Amino acid sequence: MSSLDLINVVKRFGELTVIDGVDLDITEGEFVVFVGPSGCGKSTLLRMIAGLEEISSGELRIAGNRMNETPPAKRNIAMVFQSYALYPHMNVERNLGFALETARLPAAEIRERVTKAARFLQIDHLLDRRPAQLSGGQQQRVAIGRALVRQQKLFLFDEPLSNLDADLRMEMRVEIARIHREMKATTVYVTHDQMEAMTLADRIVVLKEGRIAQAGTPMELYERPANRFVASFIGSPRMNFLPGTLTQDGEESVLTLFGTPHRLPAHDYAGEVTVGIRPEDLILGGGEVTLTADVLLVEPLGGEALVHLNVEDGRSIVVKVQGKPDIRPGATTSVGWNHTRANLFDKDERALSRKGA
Ligand SMILES: Nc1ncnc2c1ncn2[C@@H]1O[C@H](COP(=O)(O)OP(=O)(O)O)[C@@H](O)[C@H]1O
Ligand SMILES: [Mg+2]
Repeated sequence: MSSLDLINVVKRFGELTVIDGVDLDITEGEFVVFVGPSGCGKSTLLRMIAGLEEISSGELRIAGNRMNETPPAKRNIAMVFQSYALYPHMNVERNLGFALETARLPAAEIRERVTKAARFLQIDHLLDRRPAQLSGGQQQRVAIGRALVRQQKLFLFDEPLSNLDADLRMEMRVEIARIHREMKATTVYVTHDQMEAMTLADRIVVLKEGRIAQAGTPMELYERPANRFVASFIGSPRMNFLPGTLTQDGEESVLTLFGTPHRLPAHDYAGEVTVGIRPEDLILGGGEVTLTADVLLVEPLGGEALVHLNVEDGRSIVVKVQGKPDIRPGATTSVGWNHTRANLFDKDERALSRKGA
C-alpha cells in the first residue's frame, strides 16, 4: 500500500521556486532517504510532508488522503530534527512523555510508553537527568525517543546526526537502522551525507535544485547512475571523469580518449562524452582501455590505498587498490579499466545506454 504520495509538488518562496515538481510514491514500511547538496530543497520537501510549510501547488497524500490543508498535529507524523529541541528544564522522563501529556493520555499509559521507549533506546538509566546532563548522543536518543512514544505510522528525520562526532554518528546510524527494522514505520530521512544514505535507505532520492535527479535503491544509483550529477554525488572517493568523443563504426562504437581510439560495444549516440570510472574499477597496469599516467601520491589507508595519478592531459584521477601498492610518487605507470565498468554520459550529462540495452 502506498503510504505517502507526492504528486507534482511545488514550493515557491515569492519568485524563488525551491521544489520544482516532485513526484514520488513511498510504500508502507519503506525507508526513503532524501540526499543532495546543501540548499537543494531537502528540508523544504520534508517540512511540506510534515505540514510545517505550505504546498504551493501539487498534492500530498498520506495513506491515500489529501493532506495539503491538514494541520501538522493531525497528520500522524513524528519528526526528529537536527537540533534536538529538548525542554531544558524537564528531565528525560518528562521530555519523553510531554507530547503524550499534552494529548491527555492516561498517566499509566504515558509511563508505560516512556519506559518502553527508554529501554529500547538504552536511556532508561537517565530518566531523572536534565538534557544539560547528557552527552550529545544521549540527547539525540531522547529526541528519537520522543518521536517513538507517539507511535505514529510515519517518521520524518531531518539530518538527525549532523551534530554528532564521527563515532557517534556511526553508532546512531546503526541504532536508527535497528529502530526501523523493529518498528517497521515508514521513514523519510534527510541527509547531505551520501554514506548515511547508502547504508540506511531502501530507496534513495537524490535531489538537485528542487528536482529529483534520480530515485532508486542504493545499488541502482551506485551501479547505474542516470546522470553525471548522481554519479559524482554517490560514492567516495568520487567517480573519476575523463573527456572523450564517441563515433559510430558499424556494429561498434569508437571512443576516442586523448587522441587514441578504443573499440566499444555499440551505443546509440555520437558526439562528445564524459567517461566515468569509479576508483575501485580502475586497474593499475591493466584493463581493456589503458592510459599512461604519472604517480602523484599514494595514500595508504590500512587495508586499502588511494593512488593519485596524473593522466595524459594532466588531469588527476584516483585509483583505489587493496593492500599497499608497490608504486612510488614520480613513477610512470599505466592505468585502465574494462568496458563494462565505464559509465558514459552525453553532452547533457545523461547516462548513455548500450544499443538494445
Ligand atoms: N522561508 C524561506 N524563504 C525563502 N527561501 C527559503 C526559505 N526556506 C528555504 N529557502 C530556500 O530554499 C532552498 C532550499 O532550502 P532547504 O530546503 O533548507 O535546503 P536543504 O535542506 O537541502 O539544505 C534554499 O535556497 C533556501 O535558501
Ligand atoms: Mg536542510
